[in-house]
Amino acid sequence: MKKYTIVIVGGASSYTPGIVRSIMNAYTKMPLKKLILQDIDEENLEIMGKYLKIMFRDENFPAEVTWTTNRKEAFEGADFIFTQIRTGGLEMREKDEKVSLAHGLVGQETCGPGGFAFAMRSIHPMVKITKDVVKYAPDAWIINYSNPLPILAEAIRREVPQSKSLFICDMPIVQQMAMAATLGYEEKDLTFGYFGLNHFGWFTSIKNKEGEELLPKLKEILLSDKGITLVDFGHLDDSWVKTFNNISKGVKAFPEYIPLTYMQYYYFPEAMVKKSNPNYTRANEVMDGRRKRTFEECKAVIEADSTKGFTHNLDAHGDFIVDQAVAIAHDTNERFMVNIVNNGSFSNMDNDIVIETFGTIGENGAEVNKSIEIPEFYKSLMVTQNTYEKLTVDAALEGSYQKALKALALNATVPSVPKAKEILDALIEANKCYFPKLK
Ligand code: G6P
Ligand code: MN
Repeated sequence: MKKYTIVIVGGASSYTPGIVRSIMNAYTKMPLKKLILQDIDEENLEIMGKYLKIMFRDENFPAEVTWTTNRKEAFEGADFIFTQIRTGGLEMREKDEKVSLAHGLVGQETCGPGGFAFAMRSIHPMVKITKDVVKYAPDAWIINYSNPLPILAEAIRREVPQSKSLFICDMPIVQQMAMAATLGYEEKDLTFGYFGLNHFGWFTSIKNKEGEELLPKLKEILLSDKGITLVDFGHLDDSWVKTFNNISKGVKAFPEYIPLTYMQYYYFPEAMVKKSNPNYTRANEVMDGRRKRTFEECKAVIEADSTKGFTHNLDAHGDFIVDQAVAIAHDTNERFMVNIVNNGSFSNMDNDIVIETFGTIGENGAEVNKSIEIPEFYKSLMVTQNTYEKLTVDAALEGSYQKALKALALNATVPSVPKAKEILDALIEANKCYFPKLK
């Protein structure tokens, strides 16, 4: 069987060990020849590289691991390039969240002004990385899970349309697992229907193998005292538990469908702000939790030159990424949630927008061959959100203050134009060395 060379861009992230574990677990389906970690953070890159080298050796895992800050060196000869960049790191995520909350607005990494700022920092780097992949590894597939995903997907659609890129998110899958558990099923035994944009969508159907529609039953449970059943997929920190419990509130507001977790920020922005602690946000939780745990373990393993006695406390979102790489490698045409250029899948929306829906993945990437009409209310919400996303890309690529202001004014978490201007100016100030110049 062919052996694969995989690059992780953003390899110094605390998510890397989980992704690598998933790659290792998939060995019989997609044997790894070489893993290359690439990052601009030299210090943590070396820690991660040394840690994984010891892990491969101790587990007799027959693959090589190397690391480099150089993209050309990393990309040449690669089969898959997984991208997980976070320009400015968790320190800038913390600023996004806290600056937004200080102005009375939703403080979240992908929704609202925080997501806007994250996008403004990431659009140019992501375009550059993708262009380098096309240049140095034209046959390689990029599997991107950097955020804010729909905005980066829109930038790549425009700027590097020839790239072989998939854009993936674990949130719908994690929610599917929770909904399945709530109904007393396994996720794999149910078929879900969904339409939306990434981090902005609705589940429209849940059927079991007999074809029975379970949506009414799920709504009933969600609206009862029992509520949703949580599953542990690295989403059991306090803030995530609250987020999953909020799905019920969304169902109560608009009972046709089950909203994706992230709709809480758009439906209930004031309540979300009220509940947030402006001095200790999700970025703090991650820095003090996952990041701290991961690097402490890496350093201890390097110090001991052994993985013996260490727990590898990982979350499983790597499995979702590797599953899609396997689908490409073996042309399985399995059903996955995909982010893709519309081209008629949502018949009453523009063809050239990036949407999120169910499709299949095979050697040519993602495909959707069903067309649905989106009900008016949901369509309007999506058009507004998508226009916000497109204006954000315009703002970054053209360096336009006006477009940035229009983007924020359209975001449903921002209540007025003066508020949009206030938060834009605050974010520009907080992102001095990261934002493109806006004129
Ligand atoms: C979900 C989303 C991802 C996001 C992550 C943040 O999994 O689908 O897009 O990156 O949450 O999680 P964190 O634990 O960093 O808050
Ligand atoms: Mn996501």
